[in-house]
Amino acid sequence: MTHKANSLTPWYSFVKGFIRSPRSVGSIAPSSRWLVKAMLAEAQVEAAKVVVEFGAGTGVFTLAMLRRLRPDARLLVFEINPEFHRDLQARITDGRVEVLHASAAEIDYHIERLGLSAPDCIVSGLPFTSLPRSVTHAILQATYATLKPGGVFVTYQYTPLLRRVLASYFDTTRITRLVLRNLPPALVFVCRKHS
Ligand SMILES: C[S@@+](CC[C@H](N)C(=O)[O-])C[C@H]1O[C@@H](n2cnc3c(N)ncnc32)[C@H](O)[C@@H]1O
Repeated sequence: MTHKANSLTPWYSFVKGFIRSPRSVGSIAPSSRWLVKAMLAEAQVEAAKVVVEFGAGTGVFTLAMLRRLRPDARLLVFEINPEFHRDLQARITDGRVEVLHASAAEIDYHIERLGLSAPDCIVSGLPFTSLPRSVTHAILQATYATLKPGGVFVTYQYTPLLRRVLASYFDTTRITRLVLRNLPPALVFVCRKHS
């Protein structure tokens, strides 16, 4: 596994990304290590064969997942911001990872193109409440359709507003944690597709 040194500090890079594209970046700061820990405790990445990440930003979840991932697992990362994507590709050269400059809405196409099995878990950093509603629905529809039966979709949000929308796609939707040590404090949503 190789993670090259970062040329830009994650914070500087993130704030710049937010100023340029506030709606799609959706947050002023990368997720804190406490939020990363809380999310990954729900995702059970250690047991997964195929893991997907939506909206990697400066890679705080990506790097934490790589430390937990099985040697034979695969991690597929979606990031639409060209600078975040380029920086991630330069820093992460682990053979288990594919960093795509593509929208999360295209998950089904890329899983099939790469010959991967259905993902056991999908970890999202997407700012659903600031994305266009049609994009949110396209992503959630493709997510549910692509997720393995028995699989889990884990996401965080800064408000509980998304709960009803998530519940309209998934078989169960729960808010499991409130992480205060994050800017801003965040709720962890755990959504399951039944076997
Ligand atoms: C709130 S930031 C989260 C970054 C990182 N996961 C974290 O927690 O620090 C949201 C990220 O989602 C990306 N993004 C927004 N819409 C996307 C889409 N449709 N597909 C993939 N990535 C997207 C943004 O470019 C940004 O990097």
